[in-house]
Amino acid sequence: MKVNGMPTRTIRPATDGLAVDVIDQTALPYRYRWLRLASVEDAAQAIRSMQVRGAPLIGVTAAYGVALAMMRQADDAALLAAVETLAATRPTAVNLRWALARVQTCLTPLPASARAEAAWREAARIADEDVDQCRRISQHALPLLRSCSGANGRLEIMTHCNAGWLATVDYGTALAPVYAAFDEGLAVHVWVSETRPRNQGLLTAWELAQHGVPHTVIADNAAGALLAGGGIDAVIVGADRIAANGDVANKIGTYLKALAARAAGVPFFVAAPRSTIDFCCPDGAAIPIEERAADELRLVHGCDAAGVASQLRQLPLAEAVANPGFDVTPAGLITALISERGSCPASREGLRALYPEERDE
Ligand code: MRU
Repeated sequence: MKVNGMPTRTIRPATDGLAVDVIDQTALPYRYRWLRLASVEDAAQAIRSMQVRGAPLIGVTAAYGVALAMMRQADDAALLAAVETLAATRPTAVNLRWALARVQTCLTPLPASARAEAAWREAARIADEDVDQCRRISQHALPLLRSCSGANGRLEIMTHCNAGWLATVDYGTALAPVYAAFDEGLAVHVWVSETRPRNQGLLTAWELAQHGVPHTVIADNAAGALLAGGGIDAVIVGADRIAANGDVANKIGTYLKALAARAAGVPFFVAAPRSTIDFCCPDGAAIPIEERAADELRLVHGCDAAGVASQLRQLPLAEAVANPGFDVTPAGLITALISERGSCPASREGLRALYPEERDE
């Protein structure tokens, strides 16, 4: 996608070959800046602090993190330590563990001297595949969205969190078909929920604005009334982990939108690549839900009148705070899952039909 008119991916090897450059998503939408990750610790910290975020992107960042570790030391102990450090950063998005397992499987049989180069190659392959899969998701999702558009030809889409190109390497998952719809001239408009407490909706608004896609930001609490009011044609979100039975973990607040969409008779789609599907996880109850720091609720971030990024405390330290990062939407509330292979019902049978090569665990 483009930033200030320039084709851009969210992550790229640094030109000196010694580091990885990523867009710092904690600075957006106020400042567009790049960060240099020069070690496995840098990569782990960027994932932990959500400077990089979104299930597919944290998987790719972790893969590059192993490559950074292998440049310093590449024996078995160093490989295991790098994988364990990165795996411990965030628990819910399975793409992280999927990417780490893939790089580890690729490197383990190799002599230490060959591991760094092989890790860079494998990480780049995972990044390129992510781009390709998002493009395919968009091809499968666009006809579904188009079929939801109203008699006036307009397509009113609601989304939650950020499942756009910032959450992937390029294109995005849930937003990829929105960009495709816009590019082919459809009158598409996106209702973007703010997504408290980390406000990933502001990232969605920023990237939609970069592409010129019409959109409106709403408070999370406005979604139910908007859906009930009949002005939304479809809801589409991404996922952090899809269990084998089709239950979906995604950003906290997704479940409420799915409930409201069902009550209003609005289709609710989930778009995600294969790396987000966990065939070893039987159902949503088995998905680990990340509990994040209380300060994410206690502090609000923004920029002050001078345009300087700033934060304000909105809750006293003594207040008890719960901050689950994700919730689970039961398969029964999901109209269809959309992956790079096509769409399917959110069910064990639907997923097996898309991925017949997956064994029953
Ligand atoms: O906590 P985040 O911002 O990493 O959570 C991101 C989401 O929940 C996204 O919706 C999900 O990863 C899909 S990204 C294509």
